[in-house]
Amino acid sequence: MKIGILGTGVVGQTLGEKLVSRGHEVRLGSRSGSGGSGAEWTAKVGAKGSLGTFADAAAFGELLFLCTKGEVALEVVRLAGAEALGAKVLIDVSNPLDFSRGFPPALTIQGFDSLGERIQAAAPNARVVKALNTVAAPVMIDPAKVPGEHDLFLCGNDDAAKGEVKALLADAFGWKNFVDVGGIEASRGTEALLPLWTRLYGRFGSPLFNFHIARSE
Ligand SMILES: NC(=O)c1ccc[n+]([C@@H]2O[C@H](COP(=O)([O-])OP(=O)(O)OC[C@H]3O[C@@H](n4cnc5c(N)ncnc54)[C@H](OP(=O)(O)O)[C@@H]3O)[C@@H](O)[C@H]2O)c1
Repeated sequence: MKIGILGTGVVGQTLGEKLVSRGHEVRLGSRSGSGGSGAEWTAKVGAKGSLGTFADAAAFGELLFLCTKGEVALEVVRLAGAEALGAKVLIDVSNPLDFSRGFPPALTIQGFDSLGERIQAAAPNARVVKALNTVAAPVMIDPAKVPGEHDLFLCGNDDAAKGEVKALLADAFGWKNFVDVGGIEASRGTEALLPLWTRLYGRFGSPLFNFHIARSE
């Protein structure tokens, strides 16, 4: 499958490298569309990986990931362009974090609102699925790095899109346990895990952990 990844940070590069290794064609998107860490990434992953602008990556992918800094995610959606985004599945991995007072960060969007909802509103035809934002990049692509049962939360308004995302994340990365939290407004809940996640990271000194929901049927 052709996959566009908006973002050349740790997340974009980690997801992209794994997807290429699984046989997908991946284009990373950045502001300039050339140079920088994205160029180093293309040199590393070989012919199935390429680099372009955010608009190039959005146009290239049949399915898209959004993994930029939360504070610029809406601007990146605008740069990608409504036409390129179309009605594609857009997996939103970003978190609305404010590091201005250091670590741990606070949420920049909370209460009766979330970044996931704002992204869906900014790209109304795209089928936004919020997923992977509650685990660290090494766990995103290899959940077995965390032993035992643990869960991946996802949410979005389009059930078929959530089904496509589950299938891809299971096939490419090995995810087994998904917890569908509901429509995109459930991003209010999954993004709100980050103040807890970052504190646990501070306590454990390692990002190799995850949440597990235990419940009676
Ligand atoms: N790191 C993790 O393990 C992890 C885990 C879960 C969720 N997340 C979330 O995933 C997202 C990506 O995290 P990351 O650490 O990989 O990368 P990041 O450093 O948060 O973001 C890098 C991307 O942001 C873009 N960017 C920065 N300033 C910009 C601006 N002014 N305008 C447009 N684009 C701009 C960069 O563009 P250029 O390519 O042009 O430089 C780059 O593509 C974040 O929202 C983070 O909260 C991260």
